[in-house]
Amino acid sequence: MMDFQASDDELRIQTLARDYARSTLAERADAHNRGAFPTESVRDLAGLGLMGIKSPVALGGLGGTNVAYCMAIREIAQVCASTAVTMAVTNMVGDMIMKFGDEAQQARWLPPLLSGAFTAGSFALSEPGAGSDAASLSAKAVLSEDGSHYVLDGTKMWITSGDVAGVVLVMAKTQPDWGAKGISAFLVDPKAAGFEVGRHEQKMGLKGSSTVSLRFEGLKVPVEDRLGPEGIGFKVAMTALDGGRCGIGAQALGIAQSALDAVLAELPARKGADRALQTGQATSFRVADMATRMEAAWLMVQRACALHDAGVRMSREAAMAKVFATETAGFVTRTCMTLASASALQHDSRVGRAYRDARVARIYEGTSEVQRIVIARELVRGL
Ligand code: CAA
Repeated sequence: MMDFQASDDELRIQTLARDYARSTLAERADAHNRGAFPTESVRDLAGLGLMGIKSPVALGGLGGTNVAYCMAIREIAQVCASTAVTMAVTNMVGDMIMKFGDEAQQARWLPPLLSGAFTAGSFALSEPGAGSDAASLSAKAVLSEDGSHYVLDGTKMWITSGDVAGVVLVMAKTQPDWGAKGISAFLVDPKAAGFEVGRHEQKMGLKGSSTVSLRFEGLKVPVEDRLGPEGIGFKVAMTALDGGRCGIGAQALGIAQSALDAVLAELPARKGADRALQTGQATSFRVADMATRMEAAWLMVQRACALHDAGVRMSREAAMAKVFATETAGFVTRTCMTLASASALQHDSRVGRAYRDARVARIYEGTSEVQRIVIARELVRGL
């Protein structure tokens, strides 16, 4: 029989995130919605182990599952999506250091990343000319003649936490003519000479998360900071995104839940208008449809996570979960805008914030179109 019950440990991690979100983050969420980066909150999350949910306890993580990770992300996103994405990308970078790093790299980078000493981790794949077609990136890393370091040059764009991170996982070409196989991954120290932070993007949503461009000019990266062998950078990125896409699905559902909760709280006050306009059933059917789609999406996210935890390849399930959960969040927040009407236009409206925050979930960590490409390809390949 399939087990739909989370384990005690997963519930403990969910409760940790939920209690923090409701007791402390909730008071700060409005400030983050106005653009304040959640410095204090991400440090608090690190103190609770939530910046490395799947990382070993000995290194500052919680040793949890992917299921627990998504449960926690959903709880945080329900209160502050900007904090959730900062947390998600940091977890993703830590997971890749755990998976592809050697012992020395894990010992050097994970404790400060997970303890909050680094504030955040950052993942630098996209470029001005390479978004969805990630393998066409053009940042390059050239090995020095004495083999001691690489010289990194290039520009990255839309980089979450790129200006506050203590470590940036950068994908760059070590063999420019080899396509995806010519990409390598590097753990870059932002304090290194040649690391420049460019424009801070002013976004329609997730205003508290920081999104910047980065420029590398003759930046020296010691060879020991290459993550894994040369040529596996694309695999590192795609592996990170398989797990990350489940997290974005969970984030989107947390955002959707916040909008639905706000509408449900207002329902008693709507009764008069619903009676006068005879829209009672239209409202209740909409509420039922939203909750049903969210339930289906959550099951998909959890199934992809459970496969991941079992060590089964789950690129297709992760892509399906992401596209369905994020498009569901679009449907839910749009519907809630309709139900909340003019009040949702106010800047501090919970529904209005959710509507703005939800949109990017259909874009980052692979657009809905990219997810459909992944799903179709895997089906054609019989995977
Ligand atoms: N796991 C491991 N390896 C994988 C993989 C996976 N999930 N997917 C592909 N690979 C491997 C393939 O097996 C192949 O290796 P071999 O040749 O040895 O078999 C290699 O990688 C190349 O694969 P493809 O031929 O499928 O590569 P492609 O260039 O056709 O990829 C794509 C197409 C799927 C659309 C990919 O480019 C993609 O996912 N694009 C979207 C990028 C993206 O999601 N960006 C998000 C930016 S990060 C972000 O948003 C974070 C944030 O700030 C919130």
